[in-house]
Amino acid sequence: MTAAARSDDAPGRPAGAGPASLQRPTPEGAARRRLLLASAGTVGGLGLVATAVPFVETFEPSARARANAAPVEAAWGDLAPGQLRTVAWRGRPVWLMRRTPAMVASLDAPNPDLADPGSRHSEQPPACRNPTRSLQPELFVAVAICTHLGCIPSLKVGDAAFQALMHAHEDGFLCPCHGSRYDLAGRVVRNVPAPLNLEIPPYQLLAGQTVRVG
Ligand code: FES
Repeated sequence: MTAAARSDDAPGRPAGAGPASLQRPTPEGAARRRLLLASAGTVGGLGLVATAVPFVETFEPSARARANAAPVEAAWGDLAPGQLRTVAWRGRPVWLMRRTPAMVASLDAPNPDLADPGSRHSEQPPACRNPTRSLQPELFVAVAICTHLGCIPSLKVGDAAFQALMHAHEDGFLCPCHGSRYDLAGRVVRNVPAPLNLEIPPYQLLAGQTVRVG
């Protein structure tokens, strides 16, 4: 085959210069190629960021979630002795109860009916692991959810039928769903469906007989 018949000999190219694909790029071509690569990288990076931002926003807690997780402050100084108030914390009911001196005294007495009198297996702040399960004996703070299947127990004060079922005929809390009973420190009695004492949430005592739960 003659040199004129070779397909890679383009017109105007010096004979024997080789195929176009093997030619060295001119300085202008190399600059254009670098510019194209840089543009493609920038566009790709922007696309990646644009795709990632919605995911990052998805993981941001909503204002409502932040509000639900926030501590709750409530006054308890206006409660009469023996009275109970319910506040909401993290979507759960929490009791604030002002116990009478007699109620506090009853919690100190040994009670063989209790399943976990020392609160060894239940949930409470370390400072509340005492007979009254509280920071201050007079004030009882507890999550108002039965540890069996989550019903809300009721306060039973002066209820003869309830007291007849308690060791020292004392007052306490009764879960209406399956009959679990708790004393006035939220300690569960033996032989009922609930396995644990009521949960005591983290809380602080603030000035002015106010409590911050959470
Ligand atoms: S839910 Fe309270 S006893 Fe079952």
